[in-house]
Amino acid sequence: MNWGMIDRYAKSLIREAGHKIRVSFFNTIDIESKADANDLVTNIDRGIEQFFIKRIRKDFPDHKIFGEEGFGDQIDSLDGIIWMLDPIDGTMNFIHQKRNFAISLGIYMDGMGILGYIYDVMNDDFYHAMKGEGAYYNDERLPALESTPLELAIIGVNASWVAPNRRIENEPIAKMVQACRGTRSYGSAAIELAYVASGRIDAYMSLRLSPWDIAGGMVIAQEVGAIATNMKGEKPHLLGQDTFIVAKPKLHDELLTNYIQLK
Ligand code: IPD
Ligand code: CA
Ligand code: CA
Ligand code: CA
Repeated sequence: MNWGMIDRYAKSLIREAGHKIRVSFFNTIDIESKADANDLVTNIDRGIEQFFIKRIRKDFPDHKIFGEEGFGDQIDSLDGIIWMLDPIDGTMNFIHQKRNFAISLGIYMDGMGILGYIYDVMNDDFYHAMKGEGAYYNDERLPALESTPLELAIIGVNASWVAPNRRIENEPIAKMVQACRGTRSYGSAAIELAYVASGRIDAYMSLRLSPWDIAGGMVIAQEVGAIATNMKGEKPHLLGQDTFIVAKPKLHDELLTNYIQLK
Protein backbone atom coordinates (compact mmCIF):
# COMPACT_ATOMS: atom_id res chain seq x y z
CA MET A 1 0.00 0.00 0.00
CA ASN A 2 1.40 3.39 -0.96
CA TRP A 3 0.56 5.24 2.25
CA GLY A 4 2.63 8.29 1.24
CA MET A 5 0.40 8.78 -1.79
CA ILE A 6 -2.79 8.25 0.24
CA ASP A 7 -1.46 10.74 2.81
CA ARG A 8 -0.87 13.45 0.20
CA TYR A 9 -4.27 12.76 -1.35
CA ALA A 10 -6.10 12.93 2.00
CA LYS A 11 -4.37 16.19 2.99
CA SER A 12 -5.30 17.89 -0.24
CA LEU A 13 -8.91 16.64 -0.01
CA ILE A 14 -9.19 17.98 3.55
CA ARG A 15 -7.81 21.38 2.58
CA GLU A 16 -10.26 21.57 -0.33
CA ALA A 17 -13.13 20.66 2.00
CA GLY A 18 -11.96 23.29 4.51
CA HIS A 19 -12.11 25.91 1.79
CA LYS A 20 -15.66 24.84 0.90
CA ILE A 21 -16.69 25.19 4.55
CA ARG A 22 -15.19 28.69 4.86
CA VAL A 23 -16.97 29.77 1.68
CA SER A 24 -20.26 28.30 2.97
CA PHE A 25 -20.54 31.17 5.47
CA PHE A 26 -21.40 33.48 2.57
CA ASN A 27 -24.68 31.57 2.07
CA THR A 28 -27.57 30.74 4.37
CA ILE A 29 -26.99 27.53 6.28
CA ASP A 30 -29.93 25.11 6.73
CA ILE A 31 -30.05 23.77 10.27
CA GLU A 32 -31.95 20.68 11.39
CA SER A 33 -32.12 18.61 14.57
CA LYS A 34 -31.38 14.88 14.59
CA ALA A 35 -31.83 12.72 17.71
CA ASP A 36 -32.84 15.66 19.94
CA ALA A 37 -33.25 19.44 19.77
CA ASN A 38 -29.56 20.10 20.49
CA ASP A 39 -28.21 17.42 18.15
CA LEU A 40 -27.73 19.65 15.13
CA VAL A 41 -26.83 19.00 11.52
CA THR A 42 -26.61 21.33 8.53
CA ASN A 43 -26.59 21.06 4.77
CA ILE A 44 -22.84 21.76 5.01
CA ASP A 45 -22.13 18.70 7.21
CA ARG A 46 -23.97 16.59 4.65
CA GLY A 47 -22.47 18.29 1.60
CA ILE A 48 -18.91 17.95 2.87
CA GLU A 49 -19.38 14.27 3.69
CA GLN A 50 -20.75 13.70 0.18
CA PHE A 51 -17.81 15.60 -1.32
CA PHE A 52 -15.34 13.25 0.40
CA ILE A 53 -17.30 10.14 -0.48
CA LYS A 54 -17.61 10.96 -4.15
CA ARG A 55 -13.85 11.51 -4.46
CA ILE A 56 -12.77 8.53 -2.36
CA ARG A 57 -15.14 6.17 -4.19
CA LYS A 58 -13.79 7.35 -7.54
CA ASP A 59 -10.09 7.18 -6.63
CA PHE A 60 -10.05 4.30 -4.11
CA PRO A 61 -13.01 2.10 -5.10
CA ASP A 62 -11.98 -0.76 -2.81
CA HIS A 63 -11.75 1.42 0.33
CA LYS A 64 -14.75 1.84 2.64
CA ILE A 65 -16.02 5.03 4.23
CA PHE A 66 -17.61 5.32 7.68
CA GLY A 67 -19.05 8.81 8.05
CA GLU A 68 -21.28 10.47 10.62
CA GLU A 69 -23.99 11.63 8.23
CA GLY A 70 -24.58 8.16 6.81
CA PHE A 71 -23.70 8.64 3.13
CA GLY A 72 -20.83 6.17 3.33
CA ASP A 73 -20.81 2.41 3.73
CA GLN A 74 -22.62 0.23 6.23
CA ILE A 75 -19.66 -0.84 8.39
CA ASP A 76 -19.96 -3.97 10.50
CA SER A 77 -16.34 -5.12 10.46
CA LEU A 78 -12.98 -3.33 10.59
CA ASP A 79 -11.51 -5.49 7.80
CA GLY A 80 -9.85 -3.70 4.89
CA ILE A 81 -9.17 0.00 4.53
CA ILE A 82 -11.76 2.27 6.16
CA TRP A 83 -11.83 6.08 6.06
CA MET A 84 -13.51 7.19 9.29
CA LEU A 85 -14.79 10.66 8.63
CA ASP A 86 -16.46 13.42 10.58
CA PRO A 87 -17.04 16.17 7.99
CA ILE A 88 -17.62 18.76 10.74
CA ASP A 89 -16.79 17.85 14.32
CA GLY A 90 -18.32 20.53 16.52
CA THR A 91 -21.42 21.34 14.50
CA MET A 92 -22.87 23.37 17.37
CA ASN A 93 -19.76 25.57 17.32
CA PHE A 94 -19.94 25.73 13.52
CA ILE A 95 -23.49 27.09 13.75
CA HIS A 96 -23.23 29.32 16.82
CA GLN A 97 -19.62 30.49 16.74
CA LYS A 98 -18.44 30.00 13.17
CA ARG A 99 -15.19 28.67 14.63
CA ASN A 100 -13.87 25.89 16.88
CA PHE A 101 -14.87 23.01 14.62
CA ALA A 102 -12.75 20.57 12.66
CA ILE A 103 -12.67 18.04 9.88
CA SER A 104 -11.66 14.75 11.47
CA LEU A 105 -10.40 11.79 9.46
CA GLY A 106 -8.70 8.52 10.37
CA ILE A 107 -7.65 5.94 7.80
CA TYR A 108 -7.53 2.45 9.27
CA MET A 109 -6.37 -0.90 7.89
CA ASP A 110 -7.81 -4.02 9.50
CA GLY A 111 -8.61 -2.01 12.63
CA MET A 112 -5.21 -0.35 12.91
CA GLY A 113 -4.94 3.44 12.62
CA ILE A 114 -2.43 4.34 9.88
CA LEU A 115 -3.20 7.98 9.04
CA GLY A 116 -4.84 10.64 11.21
CA TYR A 117 -5.95 14.20 10.44
CA ILE A 118 -7.65 16.99 12.36
CA TYR A 119 -8.10 20.24 10.50
CA ASP A 120 -9.21 23.21 12.61
CA VAL A 121 -10.76 24.95 9.64
CA MET A 122 -11.06 28.58 10.75
CA ASN A 123 -7.63 28.71 12.40
CA ASP A 124 -6.08 26.85 9.46
CA ASP A 125 -4.39 24.54 11.98
CA PHE A 126 -3.63 21.11 10.58
CA TYR A 127 -2.72 18.23 12.90
CA HIS A 128 -1.63 15.06 11.12
CA ALA A 129 0.24 11.82 11.66
CA MET A 130 1.25 8.59 10.01
CA LYS A 131 1.71 5.61 12.29
CA GLY A 132 5.38 5.27 13.22
CA GLU A 133 6.37 8.55 11.53
CA GLY A 134 5.52 11.07 14.28
CA ALA A 135 2.76 13.65 14.57
CA TYR A 136 2.74 17.18 13.22
CA TYR A 137 1.05 20.49 13.91
CA ASN A 138 1.20 22.16 10.48
CA ASP A 139 4.89 21.62 9.55
CA GLU A 140 6.13 21.37 13.11
CA ARG A 141 6.89 17.95 14.52
CA LEU A 142 5.15 17.48 17.86
CA PRO A 143 7.43 16.37 20.69
CA ALA A 144 6.74 13.27 22.77
CA LEU A 145 4.50 14.16 25.71
CA GLU A 146 6.09 14.41 29.12
CA SER A 147 4.18 13.47 32.24
CA THR A 148 2.28 16.14 34.15
CA PRO A 149 1.04 15.67 37.72
CA LEU A 150 -2.69 16.17 38.26
CA GLU A 151 -2.19 19.42 40.18
CA LEU A 152 -0.53 20.98 37.13
CA ALA A 153 -2.90 19.45 34.56
CA ILE A 154 -5.61 21.09 32.46
CA ILE A 155 -8.39 18.61 31.79
CA GLY A 156 -10.97 18.71 29.00
CA VAL A 157 -14.19 17.67 30.70
CA ASN A 158 -17.87 18.51 30.37
CA ALA A 159 -19.13 20.67 33.25
CA SER A 160 -22.40 18.71 33.50
CA TRP A 161 -20.61 15.69 35.01
CA VAL A 162 -19.97 17.56 38.21
CA ALA A 163 -23.73 17.54 38.81
CA PRO A 164 -25.63 14.30 39.57
CA ASN A 165 -25.76 12.37 36.34
CA ARG A 166 -27.01 8.95 35.24
CA ARG A 167 -23.76 7.69 33.72
CA ILE A 168 -20.85 8.63 35.97
CA GLU A 169 -20.39 9.22 39.71
CA ASN A 170 -20.19 12.98 40.02
CA GLU A 171 -18.41 13.20 43.38
CA PRO A 172 -15.06 11.75 42.23
CA ILE A 173 -15.28 13.99 39.13
CA ALA A 174 -15.86 17.03 41.37
CA LYS A 175 -12.74 15.98 43.35
CA MET A 176 -10.77 15.71 40.11
CA VAL A 177 -11.92 19.18 39.07
CA GLN A 178 -10.74 20.55 42.43
CA ALA A 179 -7.44 18.69 42.32
CA CYS A 180 -6.36 19.71 38.80
CA ARG A 181 -5.07 23.11 37.70
CA GLY A 182 -8.05 23.90 35.46
CA THR A 183 -10.70 22.49 33.16
CA ARG A 184 -11.75 23.31 29.61
CA SER A 185 -14.57 22.27 27.29
CA TYR A 186 -14.08 23.21 23.64
CA GLY A 187 -17.08 21.44 22.07
CA SER A 188 -15.16 19.45 19.48
CA ALA A 189 -13.78 16.07 20.49
CA ALA A 190 -11.34 16.20 17.57
CA ILE A 191 -9.92 19.57 18.58
CA GLU A 192 -9.66 18.39 22.19
CA LEU A 193 -7.71 15.33 21.04
CA ALA A 194 -5.45 17.58 18.94
CA TYR A 195 -4.91 19.75 22.02
CA VAL A 196 -3.85 16.74 24.08
CA ALA A 197 -1.46 15.68 21.32
CA SER A 198 0.05 19.16 21.13
CA GLY A 199 0.30 19.59 24.92
CA ARG A 200 -2.26 22.40 25.18
CA ILE A 201 -4.34 20.34 27.56
CA ASP A 202 -3.22 17.23 29.45
CA ALA A 203 -6.29 15.00 29.22
CA TYR A 204 -9.70 14.87 27.57
CA MET A 205 -12.63 12.61 28.37
CA SER A 206 -16.14 11.99 27.11
CA LEU A 207 -18.97 9.65 28.06
CA ARG A 208 -20.09 8.97 24.52
CA LEU A 209 -18.18 9.37 21.30
CA SER A 210 -18.46 7.76 17.89
CA PRO A 211 -15.64 6.23 15.84
CA TRP A 212 -15.38 9.26 13.49
CA ASP A 213 -14.92 11.60 16.50
CA ILE A 214 -11.76 9.81 17.66
CA ALA A 215 -10.34 7.84 14.72
CA GLY A 216 -8.06 10.57 13.35
CA GLY A 217 -7.13 12.01 16.73
CA MET A 218 -6.10 8.65 18.17
CA VAL A 219 -3.48 8.15 15.46
CA ILE A 220 -2.08 11.63 16.16
CA ALA A 221 -2.21 11.38 19.96
CA GLN A 222 -0.64 7.90 20.06
CA GLU A 223 2.32 9.09 17.96
CA VAL A 224 3.32 11.45 20.78
CA GLY A 225 2.78 8.85 23.51
CA ALA A 226 -0.71 9.73 24.73
CA ILE A 227 -2.84 6.84 25.97
CA ALA A 228 -6.33 6.61 24.45
CA THR A 229 -8.84 4.08 25.80
CA ASN A 230 -12.44 3.78 26.80
CA MET A 231 -13.26 4.31 30.48
CA LYS A 232 -12.73 0.61 31.19
CA GLY A 233 -9.13 1.03 30.04
CA GLU A 234 -9.74 -0.95 26.84
CA LYS A 235 -9.18 -0.04 23.21
CA PRO A 236 -12.15 2.16 22.20
CA HIS A 237 -14.85 0.44 20.20
CA LEU A 238 -14.54 1.53 16.56
CA LEU A 239 -17.81 0.15 15.22
CA GLY A 240 -20.12 2.07 17.56
CA GLN A 241 -20.26 4.52 20.44
CA ASP A 242 -18.05 4.22 23.49
CA THR A 243 -16.72 6.17 26.46
CA PHE A 244 -13.34 7.77 25.88
CA ILE A 245 -10.33 9.14 27.72
CA VAL A 246 -7.03 10.32 26.28
CA ALA A 247 -4.21 11.62 28.45
CA LYS A 248 -0.52 11.63 29.16
CA PRO A 249 0.49 8.14 30.36
CA LYS A 250 0.67 8.48 34.18
CA LEU A 251 -2.21 10.91 34.28
CA HIS A 252 -4.37 8.49 32.26
CA ASP A 253 -3.77 5.83 34.87
CA GLU A 254 -4.41 8.18 37.79
CA LEU A 255 -7.66 9.54 36.32
CA LEU A 256 -9.01 6.08 35.51
CA THR A 257 -8.03 4.58 38.83
CA ASN A 258 -8.97 7.39 41.20
CA TYR A 259 -11.61 9.57 39.62
CA ILE A 260 -13.66 7.82 36.95
CA GLN A 261 -16.42 5.57 38.26
CA LEU A 262 -19.03 4.66 35.70
CA LYS A 263 -22.49 3.78 37.04
C1 IPD B 1 -19.74 16.23 18.80
C2 IPD B 1 -18.56 17.00 19.33
C3 IPD B 1 -18.75 17.25 20.81
C4 IPD B 1 -18.93 15.97 21.58
C5 IPD B 1 -20.12 15.21 21.00
C6 IPD B 1 -19.90 14.94 19.52
P1 IPD B 1 -20.47 16.63 16.23
O1 IPD B 1 -19.57 15.95 17.41
O2 IPD B 1 -17.35 16.29 19.14
O3 IPD B 1 -17.62 17.91 21.35
O4 IPD B 1 -19.15 16.25 22.93
O5 IPD B 1 -20.26 14.00 21.69
O6 IPD B 1 -21.01 14.24 19.01
O7 IPD B 1 -21.84 16.05 16.36
O8 IPD B 1 -20.42 18.09 16.40
O9 IPD B 1 -19.77 16.09 15.03
CA1 CA C 1 -23.31 15.45 14.86
CA1 CA D 1 -18.29 14.53 15.91
CA1 CA E 1 -20.05 15.87 12.85
